[in-house]
Amino acid sequence: SKIYHFESIDSTNNMAKKMASEGAAEGTIIIAEEQTGGRGRLGRTWVSPKGTGIWMSIILRPNIAPTEAAKITQITAAAVASGLRKIIGEDVGIKWPNDIIIHRKKVCGILTELSAELNSVNYIVVGIGINVNMDTKDFPEEVRRIATSIKACVGRTVSRKNIVKEILHSFEELYSDFTYNKNIKKSIEICKKYSVTLGKEVKIKNKEKEVVAKAIDLTEDGQLLIKNQSGVIEKVFSGEVSVRG
Ligand code: BTN
Repeated sequence: SKIYHFESIDSTNNMAKKMASEGAAEGTIIIAEEQTGGRGRLGRTWVSPKGTGIWMSIILRPNIAPTEAAKITQITAAAVASGLRKIIGEDVGIKWPNDIIIHRKKVCGILTELSAELNSVNYIVVGIGINVNMDTKDFPEEVRRIATSIKACVGRTVSRKNIVKEILHSFEELYSDFTYNKNIKKSIEICKKYSVTLGKEVKIKNKEKEVVAKAIDLTEDGQLLIKNQSGVIEKVFSGEVSVRG
């Protein structure tokens, strides 16, 4: 598949969506050295300085219903965590649904966006942002408390190329298992094994409410099962999760 490499663009997800809408094939990859308008989840900004991070998007055309998009996020999280573990040998965790954690801080976020009709997906763009070689002293104070970089964790500069290679390798394996064999078990297993969320008390914030509950399982649909304080088990589709303690 084709890889497009840009020096500077607003957002690899924006570029990927544009190319997908113009017919780009499944597996097309967009990478930028710098993003001037990097986007995070929930309308947030994603700081994407030049040359130190991995700002990348993958165009996918899976034959799935729009409601299954959460599975793609889990497959991606599993691929990123596995790929990073291979390269840096650190304890890399997954905070459901889309954060990759090292030393209790975020090193990577995933932004899945889709174009869909009522019952079918036209295309999905999965954006991956990884803080690789930045010095955390350059992070704004508020960010430093919750985010880190791979370099800060392992104490040396790490090759972005090798990371991209390992992640894409894992992704290809897990994604093709899903599309060709309808099998997502391996991805979900990885997400469970490396989860920093399961077994913990979590606070879930969404539009309507904020609940405190215990995260007990991850379903094959990529949803979190929680047990609330009255002992009732519920499924969480997305929203903002913070792990307590
Ligand atoms: C999050 O944790 O909120 C998700 C962050 C996703 C950032 C990546 S960087 C590459 C791609 N392009 C974007 O504009 N965002 C994603």
